[in-house]
Amino acid sequence: MKGIVFTEFLDLVEQKFGLEMVDDIINQSDLESGGIYTAVGTYKFSEMLQLLQHLSANTSISIDDLLLIYAEHFFSVLKESYPGLLDTYKDPIEMLSSIENHIHVEVRKIYPDAELPTFDVIEKTENSLVMIYKSSRAMHHFGLGLMNKTFEHFNSKATIKIEKIREDGTEVMFIINKN
Ligand code: HEM
Repeated sequence: MKGIVFTEFLDLVEQKFGLEMVDDIINQSDLESGGIYTAVGTYKFSEMLQLLQHLSANTSISIDDLLLIYAEHFFSVLKESYPGLLDTYKDPIEMLSSIENHIHVEVRKIYPDAELPTFDVIEKTENSLVMIYKSSRAMHHFGLGLMNKTFEHFNSKATIKIEKIREDGTEVMFIINKN
């Protein structure tokens, strides 16, 4: 997992819960990196999982809810870092249906070692989109947060449902309907 995902995560934890919470979750985890991350480095996903698990235990907020909140913050990071990628799109359904064959393709050019999910488009109309998310990291709520912000970015609104295909969340269906 890319360092920027860690540095932005720890920044948000500090902002929302304070520096002490950052220290606590780092100390409670067994981290190869020692909890020191640079934006361009690459670290094990298991480190992020441990940080999330401890933050969840300390705050009584579920990991899915933490990922959702984090993704909504991460969207503005992506927007500032890669304005050109977002400017290509005029419509949220167009943008979301292009994650697999455009957006993340560009991401892989920048970070060849990025660990990205797959999003297969099952059905697409002007106002709706059905996609299957697959990733061993089961970060579907991170996807949900980015999708919420994508609609907000285009001053649009949608109802987004997640149906688990695999119980562990490594494969889910996103059913997106513009309101
Ligand atoms: C992960 C970039 C848009 C879904 C990531 C990562 C980067 C990235 C750098 C981390 C990879 C790693 O740590 O190795 C971008 C950029 C975008 C964009 C630059 C747009 C400008 C989106 C959108 C979605 C999305 C709109 C909507 C669902 C995800 C998910 C992950 C991810 C779910 C977590 C990894 C996983 O589930 O396996 N993306 N992304 N991304 N991205 Fe994107």
